[in-house]
Amino acid sequence: MILVTGATGNNGLEILKRLASQNVQARAMVRNRDRARAIADLGIEMVEADFDLPETLPSVLAGVDRAFLVTNSTEYAEAQQLAFVEAAKQTGVKHIVKLSQFAANADSPVRFLRYHAAVESAIQSTQMAYTFLRPNLFMQGLLNFRSLIVEQNTFYAAIGDARVSVVDVRDIADVAVAALTEAGHEGKIYDLTGSQALTHTEMAEYLSAALKRQIAFVDIPPKQMREAMVGFGMPVWQADGLIEDYAHYRRNEAAAIASGIEDATGKAPRQFKDFAHDYATAFS
Ligand SMILES: NC(=O)c1ccc[n+]([C@@H]2O[C@H](COP(=O)([O-])OP(=O)(O)OC[C@H]3O[C@@H](n4cnc5c(N)ncnc54)[C@H](OP(=O)(O)O)[C@@H]3O)[C@@H](O)[C@H]2O)c1
Repeated sequence: MILVTGATGNNGLEILKRLASQNVQARAMVRNRDRARAIADLGIEMVEADFDLPETLPSVLAGVDRAFLVTNSTEYAEAQQLAFVEAAKQTGVKHIVKLSQFAANADSPVRFLRYHAAVESAIQSTQMAYTFLRPNLFMQGLLNFRSLIVEQNTFYAAIGDARVSVVDVRDIADVAVAALTEAGHEGKIYDLTGSQALTHTEMAEYLSAALKRQIAFVDIPPKQMREAMVGFGMPVWQADGLIEDYAHYRRNEAAAIASGIEDATGKAPRQFKDFAHDYATAFS
């Protein structure tokens, strides 16, 4: 049995769609089944559990051989993921596929990269097999700017003209499914990037072509980006983490192009122009 956590999230849902279409037996961990309509529609078994309530984890893990682990990046993420790893160890899970992040490192100035490194290290210290997926910035992250793009034809970030080898979540899901269903991915750390390192201005140009209207990118100071995110209701810890993340992008530390997608799946990564085309209606 394969367990997918973060099942209602960006990656979890894409993974479940693939497992369902391949008729692979899988279980989705959800906090609230009433908010998980999309998973019910796939015909996937759902079990309610909460990373913050470790006593709920053994029942969702019963009979599970392989688990996909993801949480969103909050100040609780490290403790949540460590609790899951401990419960997985106790219940006899054989293989954890963990969604980490490009450049995860215990000494990074970016808090997200430190917590991912801490969880990776905890998994490596168990007897369980592991596969770490380290994606770069998600193309689908642009959907967070959807209302700005729809209403103002503009999106903003504190990134300057830095290049980032952005990656499509659909490719991350393809790699996760390969790791969850095939042998040969044990002990692998896959850096997952797109095949082009793009500036945000270039992304705006691709979006303009796909949407057939002019979309602009505007660079803003980190302080303004932080105020905007906190103003939208984002917790301060998370907003500060994203500012650290964007400073790391701005230093051109996320521009390298890696072969992880092709190594794991045998397929070339989707290009940003494909993303812009496929998601055009979301920005219209
Ligand atoms: N965004 C990027 O560009 C980027 C790049 C590289 C790596 N990453 C990494 O990707 C990860 C996020 O992945 P994602 O975008 O697929 O996630 P996401 O869309 O933010 O979804 C998070 C999932 O976690 C679930 N969840 C949250 N708190 C929970 C709890 N207490 N118990 C059980 N489930 C809980 C949510 O369920 P509910 O529906 O119940 O809320 C949701 O299904 C982060 O670790 C981040 O560091 C992101």
